[in-house]
Amino acid sequence: MILGNRVAIVTGAARGIGLAVASAMGEAGARVVLADVTTDGLDAACSQLRARGIEALGVTANVADPDDNVRLVAQAVERYGRVDVFHANAAIVSFADLLETSARQIGDALAVNLEGAIHGCRAVLPVMQRQRGGVILLTASVAAFVGEPTVPVYSATKGGLTALCRSLATRHGPEGIRCVTICPGDVTTRMLEDYLARDPDPVAARSAMEARYPLGRLIEPEDIGRLAVFLASDHARCITGTDVIIDAGLTARCY
Ligand SMILES: NC(=O)c1ccc[n+]([C@@H]2O[C@H](COP(=O)([O-])OP(=O)(O)OC[C@H]3O[C@@H](n4cnc5c(N)ncnc54)[C@H](O)[C@@H]3O)[C@@H](O)[C@H]2O)c1
Repeated sequence: MILGNRVAIVTGAARGIGLAVASAMGEAGARVVLADVTTDGLDAACSQLRARGIEALGVTANVADPDDNVRLVAQAVERYGRVDVFHANAAIVSFADLLETSARQIGDALAVNLEGAIHGCRAVLPVMQRQRGGVILLTASVAAFVGEPTVPVYSATKGGLTALCRSLATRHGPEGIRCVTICPGDVTTRMLEDYLARDPDPVAARSAMEARYPLGRLIEPEDIGRLAVFLASDHARCITGTDVIIDAGLTARCY
């Protein structure tokens, strides 16, 4: 198993992409630490994984809180002795023009999506430095590269993650630590459902969305899970400081 004996922390893991990543890493042999703000969702997610024979620990944590990140990493080390993979995946989004976005919404998005990942990296890096190795994955988005008019602040936070990735990869590469962003197009999770629900006809809106994709399909959370397993594994040992786009061809399209 390509992640055998590895320990992986995934944030925002109670559902959606985070749960699919934790599940795929667990299936690949990792012991997984799932972190989320929602305790109920977290308990259900961990039970689901354990029922499939995956070693899983749930930690309730708000990634926007620096102390929660320190506690999250400490609990993982206390239970499993090391952290090989840290996947900063938790994020929130509000769909609104910038002029209709409140200062509170801007602050929350920056605190969770960008500062949350920074605090997570800050908490885990000393552990990875002691180990002389580790992999940091950051869930960004194609919105970091192409204009998505409905999510200006969210897009800015995702662009910030791509810059964070390059800086960490160059500073910590000599210590055996890799850092990569995963940049999905539209993935079939609650976040996407919330976006489609703004349309008077969500079914038609989804069909129209799918039609814009050269492969004629949206991305499933499991697609991200498989990619994350590869990037976390030694098969990706020469991949760092870069962005991996997984978007069924969306950003290749201009006309
Ligand atoms: N769904 C998409 O189309 C899509 C596309 C590109 C990128 N992404 C990114 O993928 C990641 C996962 O998105 P998703 O679609 O699974 O979303 P989701 O809303 O289904 O799940 C997000 C999870 O993060 C948790 N979370 C939110 N705030 C948190 C906090 N402060 N601390 C800890 N956990 C918190 C939520 O409770 C939830 O379990 C996000 O970074 C998102 O920006 C999603």
